[in-house]
Amino acid sequence: MTETVLLVGGGGREHAIADALADDTELYACASNRNPGIARLAAGFAEREERDADGIVAYAESVDADLAVIGPESALEAGVADDLEAAGVYTFGPSADAARIETDKQFQRRFMAEESIPGCPAFETFADAAAAADYVAAVEHDVAVKPTGLTGGKGVRVTGDQLSRDEAVDYVRESGYDEWVIEERLVGEEFTVQAFVANGEVRPTPAVQDHKRAYEGDEGPNTGGMGSYSAPERTLPFLEASDYERAVEILEATVDALPSYEGILYGQFMATADGVQVVEFNARFGDPEATNTLPVMETPLVDVLTTARDGESLPELSFAETATVCKYAVPEGYPTDPESGARITVDEESAGDARLFYASVDERDDGLYTTTSRAFAVVGTGPSIAAAEAVASDAVGAAGEGLRHRSDVGTAASVQRRVDHLAELRGGTVE
Ligand code: AMP
Ligand code: GLY
Repeated sequence: MTETVLLVGGGGREHAIADALADDTELYACASNRNPGIARLAAGFAEREERDADGIVAYAESVDADLAVIGPESALEAGVADDLEAAGVYTFGPSADAARIETDKQFQRRFMAEESIPGCPAFETFADAAAAADYVAAVEHDVAVKPTGLTGGKGVRVTGDQLSRDEAVDYVRESGYDEWVIEERLVGEEFTVQAFVANGEVRPTPAVQDHKRAYEGDEGPNTGGMGSYSAPERTLPFLEASDYERAVEILEATVDALPSYEGILYGQFMATADGVQVVEFNARFGDPEATNTLPVMETPLVDVLTTARDGESLPELSFAETATVCKYAVPEGYPTDPESGARITVDEESAGDARLFYASVDERDDGLYTTTSRAFAVVGTGPSIAAAEAVASDAVGAAGEGLRHRSDVGTAASVQRRVDHLAELRGGTVE
């Protein structure tokens, strides 16, 4: 039987999900922007805000959806999964309550502490900005300051890295958020491990390294992610196999403590001198990380979704032993002052051997327009990270005019810097 699937969300992550489902399902999609890549793969596309649970449920019913997949955290927070389930549509994505593991950072850290989930940094929570700022001024070590709620990946600041203590105090006092988590700064190399979770089972996928900072060399403000890479094996060049295994153990411990969780559990980890620590959890695929993971997943995505729905054991996942490099093209000024509403041309032919995933662009009658977020991603694959990088690099420059990207994502020099950094922190010799 062909399943009728509704996909919620219109970014690069959702284009990658659509790509993984389109051949095996009757696919429908809804998002606030008309993503031309998703629209082309889908039998129908409705423009709906991602938080518009009523509108999304009505669309799911109108297309007679058998199951739904939710891409963005905003939809999860708004209870779209709850409302679709209530309407009888099985939804791969957690309830709003379970999604607090991402959407409420105070909950996330308290949960880790109460459940003794390994890898939790020292933290304090605050209900008002003045108290949080006083704490930042007084504490002796470097800290990460985090507004409790969703900020699109752009709300966190880290002292000793992005800003001074005084700047952090001013930021906490003046940025308009009330509730804060202030935690110990972790030093090391970040990596992501995403897992499919259903019926208490956890199926991890290969590690990915995202690049959150806006500019080359990890300078500038945080973004939703400028690009990312994965290796032919499940781990990454700077990690020990035991780091990846530890990350998976942490995801498993988390799911043991959240028995009704269904969907993707995304762990953002820091490999440090003292082992693997948790930077955060997300309740959905990463963007860009989904664009690394799904194109090399050999197990059909629809099989994972239907076994989850039917309460069966999830399939063991198989991945091509191929490296991937994703590079995002973003509007000038992104993320602080992005140029939205600019008309752009994307030349898919020029992407060559790379896959091109459209992101937060809007297709209108007279062409393609930027929004305030990332425009498109290209993903190169190859036998090594360097080979995949060369494919992505050729594609990203050729495919879009007037957009910016980070040329260093996945280059041999950049990956080696990360290997050296962690080796140095761990007291090893740097070759
Ligand atoms: P988050 O929104 O929690 O993922 O944070 C965004 C980024 O801030 C992370 O990817 C890290 O680069 C950085 N970050 C968050 N928490 C910490 C921490 N405790 N120590 C160092 N960096 C952090
Ligand atoms: N790439 C980071 C995220 O999706 O949150």
